[in-house]
Amino acid sequence: MLDLRRALLLLSLLLLSLLCCSVRASCPARCECSEAAHTVKCVSKDLRTIPIGIPGYTRNLFITGNQISRIGPSSFRGLENVTNLSLSNNRISEVESHTFTELRSLRSLDLSNNQLAVIHPEAFTVSNQSLRELNLSRALYNHSSVTDLATSFRWSSLASLQGLDLSDNNLIFLPSRIFSHLTSLRRLQLSNNSLVALHNSTFSGLEGLEELDLTLNSLKTVPEEGLRELDSLPDATLLLGENPFTCTCGIEPFAMWLNRSQGRIRNAESLVCSFPPNMRNTSLLAAGTLTLGCHQRSAGADLALQTSYVFLGIVLGFIGLIFLFVLYLNRKGIKKRIYDMRDACREVWEGYHYRFEIDSDPRVSQISTGADA
Ligand SMILES: *[C@@H]1O[C@H](CO)[C@@H](O)[C@H](O)[C@H]1NC(C)=O
Ligand SMILES: *[C@@H]1O[C@H](CO)[C@@H](O)[C@H](O)[C@H]1NC(C)=O
Ligand SMILES: *[C@@H]1O[C@H](CO)[C@@H](O)[C@H](O)[C@H]1NC(C)=O
Ligand SMILES: *[C@@H]1O[C@H](CO)[C@@H](O)[C@H](O)[C@H]1NC(C)=O
Ligand SMILES: *[C@@H]1O[C@H](CO)[C@@H](O)[C@H](O)[C@H]1NC(C)=O
Ligand SMILES: *[C@@H]1O[C@H](CO)[C@@H](O)[C@H](O)[C@H]1NC(C)=O
Ligand SMILES: *[C@@H]1O[C@H](CO)[C@@H](O)[C@H](O)[C@H]1NC(C)=O
Ligand SMILES: *[C@@H]1O[C@H](CO)[C@@H](O)[C@H](O)[C@H]1NC(C)=O
Ligand SMILES: *[C@@H]1O[C@H](CO)[C@@H](O)[C@H](O)[C@H]1NC(C)=O
Repeated sequence: MLDLRRALLLLSLLLLSLLCCSVRASCPARCECSEAAHTVKCVSKDLRTIPIGIPGYTRNLFITGNQISRIGPSSFRGLENVTNLSLSNNRISEVESHTFTELRSLRSLDLSNNQLAVIHPEAFTVSNQSLRELNLSRALYNHSSVTDLATSFRWSSLASLQGLDLSDNNLIFLPSRIFSHLTSLRRLQLSNNSLVALHNSTFSGLEGLEELDLTLNSLKTVPEEGLRELDSLPDATLLLGENPFTCTCGIEPFAMWLNRSQGRIRNAESLVCSFPPNMRNTSLLAAGTLTLGCHQRSAGADLALQTSYVFLGIVLGFIGLIFLFVLYLNRKGIKKRIYDMRDACREVWEGYHYRFEIDSDPRVSQISTGADA
């Protein structure tokens, strides 16, 4: 009897604790949940991992400003309704493959302001390719991470991605074909990086791009190769401001291209030279006309070079003639000298020959050794 009562008590305690925990599980500690707004926010709460027990109704999930350093497939179990996920301002350094796979409705993923050093190949895979927006602004630990990133773009089936923000990442170059699997991409932000050139195949696969932001990079000019790349994006509006454009002769093709493509370059007339100092603040479009002088100058330089070659040829020919003439004047002396030399050679040769015969005659050598003895 007593045992039964004790067992009942235990059972009710157990039930109570289960109830209490399931009530607490309806909103994780240190988070704010709003079922009506389908929103859960865990903002600046010193969290080190993704909290457990995020409710299934969640559509907008903000876990920002915490100390989360690693995320993986177990981080987001059963959150099939989440469409917007922000993990910005954490310390995330590693994203494992299939981390977001279970977020079947995910459309917008914000990983800005993190320190991604290791990005696994299928890091951004979402089951039914629902991802539309990916924010990786200031998210890469250093420039080396871009290689991992290129691999993950290839393997994460991001064919539906429409917006990609890669600004503020100190990128020095972009691996060839890095975006070639992002075939639906419309907006690409590359502003505030350190890109110095646009190489062949950098933008291949992006025929549908509508906006490309390259402001605040390190482009001094855009040579033919880069212009071809930009021309491979026929429908894209281009933002090119705040680059250190250098207005020397080499800028001419770029300036002419700018004039031709003005229609799709935002604020083309506000693009200015940064170098050399005497050209600072000169409109790049105007630099196109100044370069006419460039052309003439280089043609003039060519002419000068050709003239100097002709002159050098004449001088060398003249010297050669004088040499031959001197030889001709001295022909008797030279003949005599050649005969002298021939005689001298003959004497020397005969001397050697004689000595060789003596050395190789066994009698002579025997005699000499006998005499020594
Ligand atoms: C996701 O939302 C749908 C519709 O609102 C709901 O029926 C379903 O239970 C939700 N999923 C979870 C895991 O709560
Ligand atoms: C993703 O696929 C599941 C079925 O697998 C479907 O219920 C869901 O609506 C799809 N989500 C989107 C955004 O297409
Ligand atoms: C969710 O993301 C979409 C972009 O995909 C955006 O338009 C919308 O405002 C976001 N909603 C919230 C609550 O952040
Ligand atoms: C990406 O995140 C940064 C910083 O959080 C924000 O300033 C920027 O507007 C976001 N990009 C897009 C395309 O929403
Ligand atoms: C980036 O960081 C990794 C890990 O600390 C390091 O091995 C690598 O050399 C760094 N790369 C650059 C370009 O600084
Ligand atoms: C450019 O990015 C760096 C970090 O990479 C940041 O410190 C700086 O404030 C950014 N500049 C602008 C104008 O956004
Ligand atoms: C870029 O492509 C052009 C022609 O398509 C080719 O002549 C050039 O060598 C290529 N440059 C590089 C670095 O591969
Ligand atoms: C260039 O223009 C900026 C702003 O328009 C101005 O502050 C700066 O003094 C100008 N520099 C020169 C050399 O004209
Ligand atoms: C731009 O090109 C047009 C011809 O298409 C030419 O008349 C004009 O002078 C050019 N402008 C500059 C600034 O080079």
